[in-house]
Amino acid sequence: MTDVTPKPTAELPLAEKARLLAGRNFWETEASESAGVRSLRLADGPHGLRHQSGGHDHLAMFDSDPATCFPPGVAIGSSWNPALAAELGAAIGREAAASGVDLVLGPGINIKRTPLCGRNFEYYSEDPLVSGVLGAAYVRALQAAGPGASVKHFAANNQETNRQTVSADVDERTLREIYLPAFERVVREAKPATVMSSYNRINGVYAWASRWLLTAVLRDDWGFDGVVLSDWSSVNDRVAALRAGLDLEMPSREAQTDELVTAVAEGVLDEAELDRSIERLRTLASRIERREATVDLDAHHDLARRIAAECVVLLRNEGDVLPLAPERSVAVIGALAETPRFQGGGSAKVAPTRIDIPVDELRALAEEDGGRVEFAPGYRLDGEPDAALLDEAVVVAREAEVAIVFAGLPEERESEGFDRADLDLPADQVALIRAVAAAAPRTVVVLSNGGVVSLEGWHDAVDAILEGFVLGQGGGRAIAEIVYGRVNPSGHLAESIPLRIEDHPSWLNFPGEHGHVRYGEGVLVGYRFFATAGTPVRYPFGHGLSYTTFEGEIAGVDVTGPDSVRVRVTATNTGTVAGKHLVQLYVGTDAGPVRRPVRELRAFEKVHLEPGESTELAFALDRRSFAYWDVEARDWVVANGEYRLEVGPDAHTITSTAVIELDGDRLATELTLDSTMAAWLDHPIVGGRTADLIGFSAVQVPEEQMAMVRSMTMTQFVRISGLDIPAAALEELMAPTRRGSRPNDEKE
Ligand code: BGC
Repeated sequence: MTDVTPKPTAELPLAEKARLLAGRNFWETEASESAGVRSLRLADGPHGLRHQSGGHDHLAMFDSDPATCFPPGVAIGSSWNPALAAELGAAIGREAAASGVDLVLGPGINIKRTPLCGRNFEYYSEDPLVSGVLGAAYVRALQAAGPGASVKHFAANNQETNRQTVSADVDERTLREIYLPAFERVVREAKPATVMSSYNRINGVYAWASRWLLTAVLRDDWGFDGVVLSDWSSVNDRVAALRAGLDLEMPSREAQTDELVTAVAEGVLDEAELDRSIERLRTLASRIERREATVDLDAHHDLARRIAAECVVLLRNEGDVLPLAPERSVAVIGALAETPRFQGGGSAKVAPTRIDIPVDELRALAEEDGGRVEFAPGYRLDGEPDAALLDEAVVVAREAEVAIVFAGLPEERESEGFDRADLDLPADQVALIRAVAAAAPRTVVVLSNGGVVSLEGWHDAVDAILEGFVLGQGGGRAIAEIVYGRVNPSGHLAESIPLRIEDHPSWLNFPGEHGHVRYGEGVLVGYRFFATAGTPVRYPFGHGLSYTTFEGEIAGVDVTGPDSVRVRVTATNTGTVAGKHLVQLYVGTDAGPVRRPVRELRAFEKVHLEPGESTELAFALDRRSFAYWDVEARDWVVANGEYRLEVGPDAHTITSTAVIELDGDRLATELTLDSTMAAWLDHPIVGGRTADLIGFSAVQVPEEQMAMVRSMTMTQFVRISGLDIPAAALEELMAPTRRGSRPNDEKE
């Protein structure tokens, strides 16, 4: 390809252009010497490379080449540590480069709208800030290693049920505030090489055919300059997709070239639309460097262990049963301790280079210090009840000082392609936990599940619970290190654990009907709902215990600009061992014309603290931290009023608060005679003059009459009040409001 001078895009034959806009096969893009475009090799890879050098598919039915299976998205989400996400991105970048992979299909940063989504193991959080910060760190580091990333699945792909056709019916404010900001942050901060559009429809329009999504929002608003590619086999109208801004259809499809050529010939598609996408592909191909890379798989396995250890969430630790002293006699119970569940199913499934077996790792650490570990499987992995296994486990548990039960979801219960029907653990495992807890002096439960599970029916019977989610190939060692206190747990929930699925804000509207799923909870997703409604949960978003104790306190707030502040937080390790403290900073307000969640996470940072150590962290909150999406203004708006800045150990528990007053945008809406009196009287430009004109400044109108007046239109008020209000005077008041309704235009 090197000795041919590439032709300008416009001079390429139409068929050549069309051909370049779809894959060459399942995992590669087309090449063209005359266009100077090389073929790119793609592979799945959110938590490890799924590079298939043999049979090809997108559901991992065929094998892939061995690669390090790092902790999946759910675990990384629970780490709340962007530095760790970056180490993961860099490692995957190295493995990709070493396999000649140019584009890694990840990370998946969709919001966990419902705990039942079968693909939650791949996603980070129910909160867009956590998802965006981690996603951006991962992409930046991955791309620094050479390959490009493909952020997916854009957008509102929050369930697997009917994912290829379902319409996510979401209002624009909710899209802008909840479902898009993680993508926005990754695009703006990390400049991903590509974005993968999702299968589903949004308000009736397929994501891959949505010009609003792929061009107006992604490119015009956020400045994305890379390539948009389709999710596998999603496109069924190539012309509409191209027009919307979808550059590359994946994988290969023979008919696509003809469809594009015919549409141009018939005059329904402008050839310039193809040129635009070809230019982007050219830039992409030149931007992605192929570098020689070698991978130290031992080092990557160690990294997988180290990352995993920071993702485990200590949910409960009554009487400080954990960490265990090594000399204690321990019964490890549960087939999952011998055959661990460490990742989810579907396109993200990696063929690991090796697997740490939890019971072996526990035994190795115990024996180093003269401890003893017995094992009993307790249940069958296929879910078939087995009373003999349960009885045997109870005997082993009774003999030990502490029983550690490994429970979790079998792979058939959660995967890409379908959702879970409930939050339950298999019934035989619940029976086992209860029986062991009744027999053993102390019981610790270690959970392995991609999406959250119900802890009801056994929670109070056990002393400690470690939520391991799925931890990748090094998870066994990570759990052992936490159990024996070699690592102090610092994972925190990036999603709420409800008491009942019926309490969850998504419950009434999931998985939808007649091809539509209505996001009826609006912006009140996850903890935003639970904390606002005061609905109790088993464990709230942000929760996670440590072997030490911490305090976080707002030390001061400095004004840094018109609607921005710096919040200083003192973090202290008040306990006796070193550990990592997660500072969570929330913002809440009742200001403005829309219903706001009681609080929303606006900043976070994890910091290592020695016993007794104290440090001050500074968080910059810009105007977006206080803004809502105003559907009339079609922009971010900061309402004038009071804002609470809150720090606490989780989204339901606030231990330190500061209140600030923001001037805000004092949005100037356009007034007409049909606007309500409330709109007239509260108007930031002419509100005061309106009150003067109708005499309200001079008289005290009783509250109940005022309420009635405020809901009338100006026309109705003039008629009903019988006041002589000259039309010219109203016209004079309306005139300065008629300059459109952009925020910041005018302040009183
Ligand atoms: C998944 C994508 C994946 C692609 C290729 C699709 O089914 O939704 O996440 O990257 O297959 O395997």
